[in-house]
Amino acid sequence: MLKEFGQQIWTADGAEVAVAGFHYPTRMAIIGLSDDSLFIWSPIQLTDGLRAEVDAIGQVRHIVAPNSLHHLFLQEWKRAYPAAKVYAPPGLRRKRADIIFDADLGSAPSADWIEEIDQVPMHGNLITTEVVFFHVKSATVLFTDLIQQIPADRIPGWRAIVAKLDLMTGPEPSVPRKFRVAFANRRAARDSLQRILAWPAEKVLMAHGTPIEENARAYLRRAFGWLIA
Ligand SMILES: [Fe+2]
Repeated sequence: MLKEFGQQIWTADGAEVAVAGFHYPTRMAIIGLSDDSLFIWSPIQLTDGLRAEVDAIGQVRHIVAPNSLHHLFLQEWKRAYPAAKVYAPPGLRRKRADIIFDADLGSAPSADWIEEIDQVPMHGNLITTEVVFFHVKSATVLFTDLIQQIPADRIPGWRAIVAKLDLMTGPEPSVPRKFRVAFANRRAARDSLQRILAWPAEKVLMAHGTPIEENARAYLRRAFGWLIA
């Protein structure tokens, strides 16, 4: 179930999650830090099989919700790994007052992973402030919902038209129209994006869509061309 995506980074694909009748394939990532601890990004449902595979590669110490929309499975991971810290993105503490968070995700990487993972909150969006990560060792950028792609043949009826209009069914993952419209503060968004574009990235992972495995920097300039121009 775990797939090696690069050096010290794995992905696991989860069950589809239904949002407003749209069925999204979901993906999490796991990064192995140099102290053998694991950074769990956007966790999917924790099955016994997944747990066994995770335990085989390291110790779960960091459980990260990268934006305020991806929080469904935090509790069960925390229950399974009570010693791990749970990190809140902007807006999630208010939305999920039932979860006890250990730390917040800000503009600077946490001291727990500063040498190995960088992070940038993508500011200026009315839907959510997504925290975008960069894993140095594998040269991978991790986006959650700001870049998406849903296979068009998986969407029945009128929802296929809506998804197409939202730019989610193109040949490569793109920024859905609803997120583009929601960037009310484009200057703030551009400032965040400049930091992201400065990373020496080779690959891009996202929670929903086919990962980009080469030429990541050129891809990111294409995906955000509407914001840069
Ligand atoms: Fe999502």
